[in-house]
Amino acid sequence: MFFDPAEVGMKPPPFKHTVYNALVVPRPIGWISTIDEDGIINLAPFSFFNSLSADPPCVMFCPNGRKPGTEEIKDTLANVEKTKEFVYSMCTYALREPMVATAVHEPAGVDELAKAGLEAAPCEKVKPPRVKESPIALECTYMQTVHLPEARDGSRQNVVIGQVVGIHIDESVITDGIVDVKKVNPLARLGYLQYAQITADNVFDLSPPGGDHRYEKKS
Ligand SMILES: Cc1cc2nc3c(=O)[nH]c(=O)nc-3n(C[C@H](O)[C@H](O)[C@H](O)COP(=O)(O)O)c2cc1C
Repeated sequence: MFFDPAEVGMKPPPFKHTVYNALVVPRPIGWISTIDEDGIINLAPFSFFNSLSADPPCVMFCPNGRKPGTEEIKDTLANVEKTKEFVYSMCTYALREPMVATAVHEPAGVDELAKAGLEAAPCEKVKPPRVKESPIALECTYMQTVHLPEARDGSRQNVVIGQVVGIHIDESVITDGIVDVKKVNPLARLGYLQYAQITADNVFDLSPPGGDHRYEKKS
């Protein structure tokens, strides 16, 4: 089948639910902490998130739409545009429940990290904390917001871009000089209410023909 989303929307027959989120999968989950001007911590997951470049490392996430029931932008976007810093903490399978707890809309001024039963660990170069229970965190400074075309309900669609200025990796996930993804056990977002986890069973190596010079063994 083919459809033009501008003409028929995202739920043409036979689809029962908005279909777009199931079409680009798996997506990493950017678990983004920010603070407001009073230093109150905000934490929320964003699966429109990714790394953009490795050197210098830059990331992006998309706090889209309005706060539920209001005309206002999401707290994460308001905070990052005012205080110019954010932190990505990796969401792992073990952290799936607290992660979804932080997707619930709370009034501005509620510390969502503490409310989800998580511990805040201090960062080195930025003021927002990272999620202590997460094995990987990226400290980021805000670069810019790119405005995408408005949604059909008129709400704002935004891409926040930041530069990574500090990297935390827990020693427990480092094996023989590599980050051991099997120990990290990352969580990925699929469509609908579906998620996937990276486990030891579904990780494998694949080299391009001729090998990849970045990973050749030095004997
Ligand atoms: C796994 C997951 C991924 C999400 N991804 C996004 C996203 O990419 N963009 C977005 O605007 N909201 C996304 N949400 C919803 C936000 O997390 C939710 O609106 C949150 O309340 C925003 O918090 P804030 O108002 O404190 O910024 C996602 C929710 C979940 C559970």
